Amino acid sequence: VGLSTNCVASKPPDTLRWEGDITGALVLLDQTRLPSVVDYLVCRDVETVERAIRTLQVRGAPAIGVAAAYGLCLGLQSVLSADDSNFFDRLTKVAALLAASRPTAVNLFFAIDRLTARAIELRGRASPSAIAAALLESAQQLEAEDRAMCAAIGAAGAPLFTDGMGVLTHCNAGGLATCGIGTALAGPLVAHQQGRHLHVFVDETRPLLQGARLTAWELMQHGVPCTLICDSMAAQVMREGRVQAVVVGADRIAANGDTANKIGTYGVAVLAKVHGIPFYVAAPVTTFDLTLASGSSIPIEQRASQEVTHWREHQLGPAGVSVYNPAFDVTPAHLITALITDRGLIREVNESGIRRVLGVSTAP
Ligand code: MRU
Repeated sequence: VGLSTNCVASKPPDTLRWEGDITGALVLLDQTRLPSVVDYLVCRDVETVERAIRTLQVRGAPAIGVAAAYGLCLGLQSVLSADDSNFFDRLTKVAALLAASRPTAVNLFFAIDRLTARAIELRGRASPSAIAAALLESAQQLEAEDRAMCAAIGAAGAPLFTDGMGVLTHCNAGGLATCGIGTALAGPLVAHQQGRHLHVFVDETRPLLQGARLTAWELMQHGVPCTLICDSMAAQVMREGRVQAVVVGADRIAANGDTANKIGTYGVAVLAKVHGIPFYVAAPVTTFDLTLASGSSIPIEQRASQEVTHWREHQLGPAGVSVYNPAFDVTPAHLITALITDRGLIREVNESGIRRVLGVSTAP
């Protein structure tokens, strides 16, 4: 009843791409305009990239990381012929600007740290322009690695999604949130491509509607049957027996497996537990933050009240009403059936299980 099968199979456009050499530009698919307008934003300076991340023109943890890496390269374009000390001063400022754009997704910090470390490694051995060229290569490598990690997550996750399953997802952790085929959507997508019949229930994901605007659009582009539901309908859809698995992405996973993801994810995990439905979190190794013992230390982004009181320019709530708008919540590890990573499945969702599969030894 009411299950949409009106799919248009074609490949969704790339989330981002770099054009040219070190003097080039970053081209982003503007996700705030989807699904009605497919438009690109050409970023020629770091300020435009920082704003694009902050305003969700580019969003999703892995895509934010890669965009920040390219943003750093853009920020260095003005100091290609500067001396070493001016170059490194500028690098510090640009890194700080990007790091302040969004606090929760750890991929952003991973990317900035990786490029900064590479620059420090080359300091004194290469000219500023040669260092900048090496950083562009690092950013391109990060993009390629992200694509490969998505493919590996798809391969690891696909066997979990068997013929005839209903799968519920929250927010958007598909190709639009990455440089590849996505994280949460990668397993169902590969299963679909292998010929299994799945039906994906897409939570609209208030307040910014990443599910309605992005996930539903993306699944339809891939020809995966899907049905859009309001967030408040998930419990009923589960009780009707339409959902056999839940899969979501992650913005940061602490050492014990507690997972920050889009606000509302925790509620979906509780619902899945009550209904005896497996709850999977899919993420690349770049989303794990083993420096944090548990989810209580994950910084949660607080966003503007306008996002709750309004939809774009249209007012929904009374002027002056008090608003709480955390962009993410933390799902405790005990509600997670398994983590789907590019290194394989982590079925023992705790610190030792995570360290064993990721191949990271226990901290001394
Ligand atoms: O605020 P957003 O749209 O950046 O939030 C995105 C999510 O919560 C995703 O689920 C997460 O980043 C994983 S994307 C592969």
